[in-house]
Amino acid sequence: MKMLRFGLAAAIALLPPAAFAAEKKANSIDELAKMYDVTSCKGCHAEIFAEWEKSFHATSLIGSPRTMATIASTIKDGLLKEYTHSGAKEVNDLTVEHMMICAKCHLPQLKNATDAVAREIAQAAIDGAAGDENARSQLAKVGINCLICHNQKALIHRWTDGEIDPTAVYGSKDGDHPDGTFTKIKKSETLPESIMCGQCHGLGPNFDLAEPTQCATLYGSYLHAYVPSGGSETCQDCHMKKDGHGHFMPGYRDPSVAKSAVTVEVDARGYYFLPKAGDSVPTAVVTVKMTSNAGHRIPDG
Ligand code: HEC
Ligand code: HEC
Ligand code: HEC
Ligand code: HEC
Ligand code: HEC
Repeated sequence: MKMLRFGLAAAIALLPPAAFAAEKKANSIDELAKMYDVTSCKGCHAEIFAEWEKSFHATSLIGSPRTMATIASTIKDGLLKEYTHSGAKEVNDLTVEHMMICAKCHLPQLKNATDAVAREIAQAAIDGAAGDENARSQLAKVGINCLICHNQKALIHRWTDGEIDPTAVYGSKDGDHPDGTFTKIKKSETLPESIMCGQCHGLGPNFDLAEPTQCATLYGSYLHAYVPSGGSETCQDCHMKKDGHGHFMPGYRDPSVAKSAVTVEVDARGYYFLPKAGDSVPTAVVTVKMTSNAGHRIPDG
């Protein structure tokens, strides 16, 4: 018996809090970046900031950088080519709604921006994918940062929890917070639960969109395969708490996570048989048992 182990593939000088109230919309990537500036957080939460900065969440329009390239081809080979349906013949016809097919999860704060920002992002993705470093650094100014998870996405049940407080960071308790703009800490029931991550890590096709897309789907697999089979760990347990990953939240990129992702047992026995004298048919029985130790299907998508 042989045991093989491998990893599969392998916030305007802080805009006043009212900035989140959606009356004022950002008109450029720079304005959107200021609206969601998190540089103040760095001073007091340096370690968390450093972990987050290295994560794919920090540059969620660029990714590995397959994301930037795929957004570019979604625009060129999808939206613009299908202009009779999408209504967009050129980048200047694109709207926030068009870009939400990706931004719904890759940049949810785009809802607080005008169509001018959607166009700026679209053009930057196209230019960035073609090798333009300035376009790429423009895209790197916005992403899934502290305020997306600890404010915008921290409450799920609006009828019971009410609206998000634009002056609070959501965490594990209620209290005061020594930040000039975010002066309170409010308790979020969502934050420590897998559903927090499930808001973007996908259940399956995005049927809510006029033109459904399917990208990340592993929250579906977590809910319908892992949990019913007795799995009891949360996304946060495996991706934040274990091995001190914290806010880096690694997937396949960290060997200490990947190494235990899949274990494979192979049991083989070779033999041959003779249908008639002189013939020989080599045959083997191979029993392969693959066990995924991830809390969901891998790879995702
Ligand atoms: C001047 C220092 C300071 C700044 C700036 C600051 N924080 Fe904090 N933050 C703290 C301290 C101290 C606590 C712990 C308060 C306590 O335990 O009562 C805290 C607690 C938190 C918590 C709650 C943790 C929990 O679950 O108990 C979150 C979330 C948080 N900060 C996020 C942020 C974000 C996001 C920013 C940037 C917008 C930020 N902080 C800026 C000092 C700061
Ligand atoms: C606002 C949406 C959103 C939320 C909430 C969110 N993620 Fe993500 N996450 C993304 C996107 C988008 C990417 C991919 C970015 C890219 O590479 O383009 C990603 C990437 C990742 C990766 C891959 C990183 C890598 O290095 O391979 C992991 C792991 C991950 N997220 C875990 C989590 C966990 C755990 C939570 C909950 C604590 C969470 N995410 C919450 C949107 C989100
Ligand atoms: C339902 C939320 C959601 C939507 C909508 C979505 N994505 Fe994603 N996407 C994610 C998450 C979460 C990840 C990271 C998880 C993973 O890799 O398993 C991801 C990963 C990716 C990756 C691989 C990341 C990398 O760094 O290699 C690409 C490429 C990508 N998305 C492109 C797109 C494009 C283009 C669109 C729009 C057509 C889109 N996504 C729409 C949530 C979404
Ligand atoms: C993708 C979502 C996500 C992003 C982005 C994010 N956090 Fe968190 N953060 C969480 C979750 C989830 C927890 C709670 C983990 C738990 O209790 O299981 C947490 C916990 C915390 C805590 C309290 C626990 C601790 O580790 O001390 C602080 C403080 C905090 N985050 C600050 C920040 C700051 C500052 C940033 C930006 C640099 C940030 N977070 C970005 C999801 C996020
Ligand atoms: C029991 C532990 C465990 C749980 C629970 C878990 N994961 Fe994972 N996850 C892993 C391991 C291990 C990998 C590494 C897989 C690899 O090497 O390709 C992984 C990989 C990933 C990836 C990268 C997938 C890819 O194809 O690139 C993402 C994104 C991710 N997890 C997000 C989540 C989210 C979101 C949740 C909660 C819904 C979650 N995980 C729950 C263990 C877990």
